[in-house]
Amino acid sequence: MLDSKLFPVCDGTLCCEGVSLEKLADKYGTPLFVVSRNSLVNQYEAFEKAFSGLDHFTFYSVKANFNLHVIRTLAERGCGCDVNSGGELYRALQAGVKPERIIMAGVGKTADDIEYGIRSGVLMLKAESSSELCVIDEIAGRLGVRASVGIRINPNVMAETHPYINTGDSKEKFGIDEADLDNVFAMIHTMEHVELTGLDMHIGSQIFDTEFYQAATEKLLDVLTAARTAGFAIRYFDVGGGFPVAYEPQRPATPIEHFADKLVPLLEKTDATILFEPGRFITANSAVLLTKVLYKKRNHAGKEFVIVDAGMTELIRPALYQSYHEIVAVHQHDSVMVADIVGPVCESGDFFARERTVDRVEEGELLAILSAGAYASVMSNNYNGRLRPAEVMVDGDEARLIRKRDTFEQLVQNEVL
Ligand SMILES: Cc1ncc(COP(=O)(O)O)c(C=O)c1O
Repeated sequence: MLDSKLFPVCDGTLCCEGVSLEKLADKYGTPLFVVSRNSLVNQYEAFEKAFSGLDHFTFYSVKANFNLHVIRTLAERGCGCDVNSGGELYRALQAGVKPERIIMAGVGKTADDIEYGIRSGVLMLKAESSSELCVIDEIAGRLGVRASVGIRINPNVMAETHPYINTGDSKEKFGIDEADLDNVFAMIHTMEHVELTGLDMHIGSQIFDTEFYQAATEKLLDVLTAARTAGFAIRYFDVGGGFPVAYEPQRPATPIEHFADKLVPLLEKTDATILFEPGRFITANSAVLLTKVLYKKRNHAGKEFVIVDAGMTELIRPALYQSYHEIVAVHQHDSVMVADIVGPVCESGDFFARERTVDRVEEGELLAILSAGAYASVMSNNYNGRLRPAEVMVDGDEARLIRKRDTFEQLVQNEVL
C-alpha cells in the first residue's frame, strides 16, 4: 500500500508528494509511471535501520526497477546493486555505481556476461552450477586474474508464495544442491582462477513468513561450516532478497523488523559480512501507473468493463502472477461500481482487476494503479505495437521525466530492411 504522506489527496485529487497526478498526466500523457523519490529513500533507510546492528551491506536488486534514476537515488545513499545480466550490470555502471558495490547473479550467465563482470571488477559473481564455475575459471584464467566467486545454494525450502516467484525449492532451476557441495568444493580447490569468497541463497519473493528465512539461513550456516572446514576463507554470507510488501489493505506485510529479530541472532554467528538483495521491498510502493479510461461498456449479462489505455504491456503482474493491485480514481469519487478494469491488448489475460468494486469513473477520467514500482516498468514491452510508457520521478514539489515514452520509429529501428 502507498504511504499516504507521500501519495496524499490534495483538493480531492491524488498527488505524488507535492505534485498533482492530474497535472503530470496533462504534461506527459498516459500511461505514465510516477515514482516518489522519497518513498525509495524511506524504504531503503527503513531496511538499513532494521539491520543496523549487523556488519552488512545492501545490494538493491535492480531487476525490480532498473531505471537509472532509481538506481542512482539508492546508490547516492550508499546502496550497492545486485545485477542479473550484462545488461543490468551496464545499467548499474551507467548509473554511477562502483563495481566493488555490485554483485552479479543469474542462473544462465553467458560467457560474455561473465567476462564483462570480471573485467568490470564486481565484488562477487554468484555461480549456480559446476559448469558455470568452469566457465568462470577459464575466463578468469584468460584474463590473468582470480575471480571472486560466491556459490548460490538451493536450500530446498519451499516458501509460501506464488509458484513463479518461489526459487529456493529443489524443484526449481536455481542454485546448487546441498548434496553436490562436497564435489563442488573439491572442484574449486583444483581451480587456479576461482577464489570462493561467498555463499548465497535467494528463496523467492514476497515471503511473509519469517520461518522460511530462518530455516534457509540455518541451512546456509551449515554450508558455511562445511566450506570453512574445507579450507575456504568465506567473507560474504548472502541471504538474498524477497522481503514482502503490502499490495492490498487486507494483507499487511510482515514488518521488516520481524525478519531482523529472527535473522540477526543467526547472522551474527557467521563472522562474515552479511549481504542482502532486496528489490520489491524498496521499490514496489514507490510508484503508481497512471492510466486514462478510454471506454466503458456493459455487456448483455450486465457486466461492466472499464477499458483503460494501460495494459499488460505496461504492468504484466496481474496476468503473470494473478497479482492484486489497488486501483483508485485520481479525482476522488463518492460512488462506486463493480467492473472489470481491462487494457487494450488483444489478450483475455489483459486485465488489472476482475469484478472489482472501484470508483464510478467516466470515460476520459484518470485511474491510478497502485504499488507499480517493482516488476512493472521493467517488464514493459512492445507487444501489439505498443509504446513503452514514460516515467516521471517526483521529489517534493518537483517532477522530472526519467524515461521518455517510446516512439513509433523505435519500434522498427533494429529491424534490417
Ligand atoms: C537472486 C535474486 N536476488 C534478489 C531478488 C529480489 O527479490 P525481491 O524483489 O523479492 O526482494 C531476486 C528476485 O527475483 C533474485 O532473483
